[in-house]
Amino acid sequence: MREAGLYNLIFWMAVVVFVLVEGLLLFTALRFRRRTSDGIPSQIHGNTRLEIVWTIIPVLILIVIAVPTITTIASASTIPQGPDVLKVTVIGHQWWWEFRYPDLGIVTADEMHIPVGTKVALTVESADVIHSFWVPRLAGKIQAIPRRQNEMWLQGDEIGEFYGQCYQLCGTSHANMRFRVFVQSKADFDAWVKDQQAVPAPPTDPEAAKGAQIFQSKACVGCHTIAGTNAKGTIGPNLTHFGSRTTIAGAMLEKTDANLAMWLHDPPGVKPGSIMPNLGLTDDEIKALVAYLDSLK
Ligand code: CUA
Repeated sequence: MREAGLYNLIFWMAVVVFVLVEGLLLFTALRFRRRTSDGIPSQIHGNTRLEIVWTIIPVLILIVIAVPTITTIASASTIPQGPDVLKVTVIGHQWWWEFRYPDLGIVTADEMHIPVGTKVALTVESADVIHSFWVPRLAGKIQAIPRRQNEMWLQGDEIGEFYGQCYQLCGTSHANMRFRVFVQSKADFDAWVKDQQAVPAPPTDPEAAKGAQIFQSKACVGCHTIAGTNAKGTIGPNLTHFGSRTTIAGAMLEKTDANLAMWLHDPPGVKPGSIMPNLGLTDDEIKALVAYLDSLK
């Protein structure tokens, strides 16, 4: 948020300069305009005092801008350390975001949860091409580059849901590479952590149980992980607690049964270029899979 403060400071200083300069310009043009038609006005050259003044004023303005700019850059690039700092590894994929909490043993996708008023140190990487991690209302951007770990930090000062977007053209569905950040109260965050750390129980509902069987017998397990099952793929999002999310497909769609069914029916039709192919699932299979995925709270 210091970046926003800096932006506002510079913006308002620029407004004052603009109004003053344009005001004086208009005043001079009107007040000293040519009123009579006789003769050429007296020709003058140079005014040392005036020239010194209009050199010094911009110097002062630039100093006032430079000091907070440098301290803000220093603050933004100093990654906080210590036991109070939450560490999250952010990995860009075509076209979704993976969030890993190394100290908490949590792996999730599309939605990052953080506690309010807490410094969060992010390590940003990419699994394929260059992406860019950006949550406009929380912090600046940083690139996600393959085989490189970029670091940044942010802090959510108010509870709420914040939209994120990949900011680096990264292929067909770049514009669909979205995510959300949930800034939660400490208690809500702790409850979320506890839920995410648990291994979901096998489904008891018959429809969901059928979906679990389909999941295990189809190609799903090759790309997705669901803790407590044989699904250990790492190409696609970890689905262990899929049912606790609010969005699907790289936060492109709200997680409703209808949207999930549409996605399972033809992923590349929903998100152009999607690595998840059309698996040719029948409507019955999709219904069971939706029930199963929803049960993974
Ligand atoms: Cu990833 Cu654009």
